[in-house]
Amino acid sequence: MKKDILQVLQQFSPIPLNESMLERPTHTHLGDLALPCFPFAKELRKSPVSIAEELAKAIHHPLISKAQAVGGYVNIFVNRSVITDSLLQTIHTQSTAYGSNNDGNGGIVTIDLSSPNIAKPFSMGHLRSTVIGNSIALLLEKNGFKPVKINYIGDWGTQFGKLLTAYRKWGSEQAVQQAPIQTLLKLYIRFHKEAELDDSLNDEGRAAFKALEDGDTEALALWKWFKSESLKEFQRIYDLLGITFDSYNGEAYYNDKMEPVVNELANKGLLAESDGALVVELGEDIPPCLIKKSDGATLYATRDLSAAIDRKTTYNFVKSLYIVGNEQSLHFTQVKQVLSKLGYDWADTIEHIPFGLILQDGKKMSTRKGKIVLLEEVLNDAIKLAHKNIEEKNPNLSNKKEIAQAIGVGAILFSDLKQHRKHDIEFDLATMLQTEGETGPYVQYACARAYAVLRKAGEATAFTVGEVNDFEWEIVKTLEQFPQVVKRAADHVDPSFIAKYAVDLAQAFNSFYGNVQVLSDADHLPYRISLISCTATVLKEALRLLGMVAPEEM
Ligand code: ARG
Repeated sequence: MKKDILQVLQQFSPIPLNESMLERPTHTHLGDLALPCFPFAKELRKSPVSIAEELAKAIHHPLISKAQAVGGYVNIFVNRSVITDSLLQTIHTQSTAYGSNNDGNGGIVTIDLSSPNIAKPFSMGHLRSTVIGNSIALLLEKNGFKPVKINYIGDWGTQFGKLLTAYRKWGSEQAVQQAPIQTLLKLYIRFHKEAELDDSLNDEGRAAFKALEDGDTEALALWKWFKSESLKEFQRIYDLLGITFDSYNGEAYYNDKMEPVVNELANKGLLAESDGALVVELGEDIPPCLIKKSDGATLYATRDLSAAIDRKTTYNFVKSLYIVGNEQSLHFTQVKQVLSKLGYDWADTIEHIPFGLILQDGKKMSTRKGKIVLLEEVLNDAIKLAHKNIEEKNPNLSNKKEIAQAIGVGAILFSDLKQHRKHDIEFDLATMLQTEGETGPYVQYACARAYAVLRKAGEATAFTVGEVNDFEWEIVKTLEQFPQVVKRAADHVDPSFIAKYAVDLAQAFNSFYGNVQVLSDADHLPYRISLISCTATVLKEALRLLGMVAPEEM
């Protein structure tokens, strides 16, 4: 709308205009758009007040119903029915593609997301990475990119030497089978406790990892088993969330692919020795990047370097994103800088997308020190609570189980995604499941309500848009903004723009629904059916971009 109106105004303005000059007044009685004339006073050698008055008088156009000069501003009242008509046509024709654009031009973007560590609980941090990363993938796709979702499983590193040692000493096959991650975590914790008293355990752990890296059959078999048991547990979570990945190449995948990188670093003279270890110096401000320990073991950074190069070769990405918590910023700065030093200009297209912590009662929800919050339990709790709410409010609903899952999981996703990703977020199941306020269920309910009206109203028929009341106009203006919001969310790599938008649209719809008698007003019915159906389409699409399901009945 802004663009169209701008073009119209340009025909009457003595000065070239651009979009940023047009404001959106906060009060409806000041019009839909306003053009402040103060910036033109100097050039035109006239007062803003008289510029505005002359301009307002001159403006005549079918898209504009009224132009009013008020103290140096031209307030523009657009022709609601013309604009509404054309918008509804557009949304009907484009359906779920409404809001899409081709900014990405098919460019591939790799997205490193989720990436939990095997033999350890799937943490709240991994949950954030999973849901934010998944939503970013959907957003990028909507903007014409080709996302590739990579679950870079943490399945390699010295800790597995420790775990193997602990398992051999104190583990049992049966216990691992019964509760793999919990059992392995306990073994790992015990290892650390006992190693504090007996340092030789650490040597054993190192030797065990060395054996693993050298391909020892027994060690490898155990490690593989730990891995497959862990992945099974993770898969249950992904199934609940409804999330899939394009690649599971994790750290271990790079075990035999690091030598070329280390050699390349050496050949380009970038490796320095420091206490027997090999590092890349990164200047005064950044600590050196550790490439090899004194015992020859590789590190997290070494594997990430190798993975980054491999991703470039495999996908030739235009951008490579890493959805990982704030606390790993230094690591990614180092990896990027080392890649630049190697002469890879694409290092600039690597971007760490950080996010904040999940807090409970103001404190980090921790997986350490026995205080394990098992995510699967949290998800199931949310689903149970949603189920309980359904039993209270709508016990006759069919497929309650499916809908409870959509609501319970959706509540968690939404409460995460509605905040700017860099903020820490408070985790409170009861609040996020409320049907009032800025919650997932609130938006889902608005959407289901729209579908319910459509079911009652019957078939859509041809219509003309007559007068558009204030409630309807609020919906139209919001619908109209969706394409810009989709762009903005992708530009900022931040799904919270979409979540906030969904709340705005749900609110506009709810106040329309509460104030306008839709079904009893036959004259306006066909047009309103169209408006409601467009609202449902866009709400559902916004929720889809957040990775959420929008049940048509709740
Ligand atoms: N597994 C790591 C962790 O849990 C996250 C991996 C992030 N991705 C990466 N390419 N480093 O901390």
